[in-house]
Amino acid sequence: MKRKDLLGLKDLSAEEIRNILRAAETMKLIIKQPSKKTPHLQGRTVVNLFYENSTRTRLSFELAAKYMSANAANITASGSSVQKGETLIDTANTINAMGTDILVMRHSMSGAPHLIAPLVSASVVNAGDGMNEHPTQALLDMLTIKEKKGHIGGLKVAIIGDIKHSRVVRSNIYGLTKLGAEVSVGGPATLIPQGMEKMGCKVFKSIQEAIIDADVVMGLRIQLERQKSGLFPSLREYYRFFGVDDARLKYAKPDALVMHPGPVNRGVEFSTSVIDGEASVINEQVTSGVAVRMAVMYLLSRGGFDTEEDDG
Ligand code: CP
Repeated sequence: MKRKDLLGLKDLSAEEIRNILRAAETMKLIIKQPSKKTPHLQGRTVVNLFYENSTRTRLSFELAAKYMSANAANITASGSSVQKGETLIDTANTINAMGTDILVMRHSMSGAPHLIAPLVSASVVNAGDGMNEHPTQALLDMLTIKEKKGHIGGLKVAIIGDIKHSRVVRSNIYGLTKLGAEVSVGGPATLIPQGMEKMGCKVFKSIQEAIIDADVVMGLRIQLERQKSGLFPSLREYYRFFGVDDARLKYAKPDALVMHPGPVNRGVEFSTSVIDGEASVINEQVTSGVAVRMAVMYLLSRGGFDTEEDDG
């Protein structure tokens, strides 16, 4: 299927996801070279339009574009004419009119990239929309799991924390279950939406039950900025009942991977010993992020994810 945009993993087929991961494996070989310049996006222009803060996603899209010889530019809401009252649609059309080929968008409103994609000629890549999806985060998580475990099908992945406000969990459930993994989610009842099971995951209110025999333990950031009222008494109490420390990690398989999309609240989602421990692949996830974003932008520039990367 031809695709102009990457808006989420909900609509991607398993084969399209596998093709992106295969291309990302090739891209990873490139970024491990001393010279990281390739001509994959020679002459193309990539603009990062971020209405929310970001370290990992924005920088990795920018580096991915530059490694592939694209022209790369960044624009944030705080430093743009958005502050003068310009609408999202007018801002996107303005960026599009400057010859932009790929528009990478992060916005606090769920559906913002879906609104813009049909209005612009540029390929739109969703870099996180509200509580909806963060597709490239899930793809980099899957790439990291595949590299470390050799496969994704049949693995048990436990995702722990603020399920309600997390776009990362939604994209991961879509992607991981399409590739045959079993996903469990766990967290305080107030942070798990009603009907979560309908997405194809198991739901646990106790962290031990969610983690038991897991091949992967993925923590999610407690998103205080998206909570209108206190959904748990305090961060200390959250950590006491739902934080993953060395003792709780023992419920998972002995060779379980510890993952987190970042930024991590140390001593809230995970103990420092778990974050920096042997099982942690958090830094590998960051490296995978550059490779996945290279793969996504390159494949979109060729018309979609059906075609395998073949002319490295
Ligand atoms: N994981 C993630 O999206 O991190 P940033 O907010 O730093 O981009």
